[in-house]
Amino acid sequence: MIPCQRHLFDIPDDVIYLNCGYMSPLMKPALEAGTIGLARKQHPWELTPDQFFTGSEEFRAVASRFLDCPADCVAIVPAASYGVATAARNLTARKGQSILVLAEQFPSHYYPWHRIAQESGAQLKVVAWPDDGDWTSAVLSDLSDDVAIAALPHVQWTSGGQLDLVRIGEACRRIGAALVLDLTQSLGALPFSVREVQPDFAVAANYKWLMGPYTTGLLYGAPKWHGGRPLEENWIARANASDFASLILYTENYAEGARRFDMGERSNFALLPAATRAMRQVLEWGVAQISETTGALNCQLAEAAAELGFLALPEKFRAPHYLGLRSSAGIPSGLPEALARQKVFVSVRGSTVRVTPHVYNSPADIERLISCLWQMAGR
Ligand SMILES: Cc1ncc(COP(=O)(O)O)c(C=O)c1O
Repeated sequence: MIPCQRHLFDIPDDVIYLNCGYMSPLMKPALEAGTIGLARKQHPWELTPDQFFTGSEEFRAVASRFLDCPADCVAIVPAASYGVATAARNLTARKGQSILVLAEQFPSHYYPWHRIAQESGAQLKVVAWPDDGDWTSAVLSDLSDDVAIAALPHVQWTSGGQLDLVRIGEACRRIGAALVLDLTQSLGALPFSVREVQPDFAVAANYKWLMGPYTTGLLYGAPKWHGGRPLEENWIARANASDFASLILYTENYAEGARRFDMGERSNFALLPAATRAMRQVLEWGVAQISETTGALNCQLAEAAAELGFLALPEKFRAPHYLGLRSSAGIPSGLPEALARQKVFVSVRGSTVRVTPHVYNSPADIERLISCLWQMAGR
């Protein structure tokens, strides 16, 4: 268990922030790294061409440790949607085939597949919300031979249900389906390995569980896609990019590995150092340890919330860091706003109250949320 790390964040004493699934607070060391990076723009004459590459390569190397892959397989993207669009550009589905998504899947990982289905005549097949809370079994039973692309997360974002991606990856390979993952609600908080899962592509926005700033996501591209087609044709993703004087000697060749999928202006001198510093801190805490620490807080809450009629998925089917609470009476309208007035911050997504703590939280924070819920229930 990780001792409370609140001192590394600028969270006032009276604020109970249980909303990392919305956006993590930026930790002080990351803000410092970003501030130094932003200030570089004051003196552009001091920037050397190699600095357009060193920061990006450092980001790639650190990001690759969350994925358990070589840095060569990581591209720098601005958003999960950009990564999913890159995958969608390279994959095909045809009439008679289907693309598998989950019920209530996040829009950035739904709309691109919806469009491909519309344009190709393929069917969008939606895995129904499982009554027993077992999303893995629900996916496995829908992974039939017709599935050309399985577009899935590690954690279903409205329920907190965790998918067993190793088993799902195996099933995809058996039927020859491509696997595209959105790890935005899990990478950094749930151990993951591309070696075990073997996806084609996997994307994660950085500003939640990787704790970086907005607009600094990452895309894993499996080696077999390293000859794929990027979304943009930007200069820095080409093989000759480091020779600034010769950029107009146009080349057909791209930079190595997944770098061809990098977004334009990926060498962001302010955001990348902040993102890299935050990821380093997350690695120092340890992903498995973060999972265990946040999981203990969520277990404490799930038990107490059950007495108020709020139910979570069974522990064996849910992601430890991500608690979705539902009530048969429905979520009282204005609940998050009423909690926010008491400086307790959670989200409502679909018909679920989502509670997503991190290492700046303590059992006392959970107790405060529970006592607010009791108060609101008039008990
Ligand atoms: C599951 C999931 N994917 C992706 C995102 C962010 O998507 P994008 O980076 O396209 O804005 C979110 C944000 O809440 C999310 O919950």
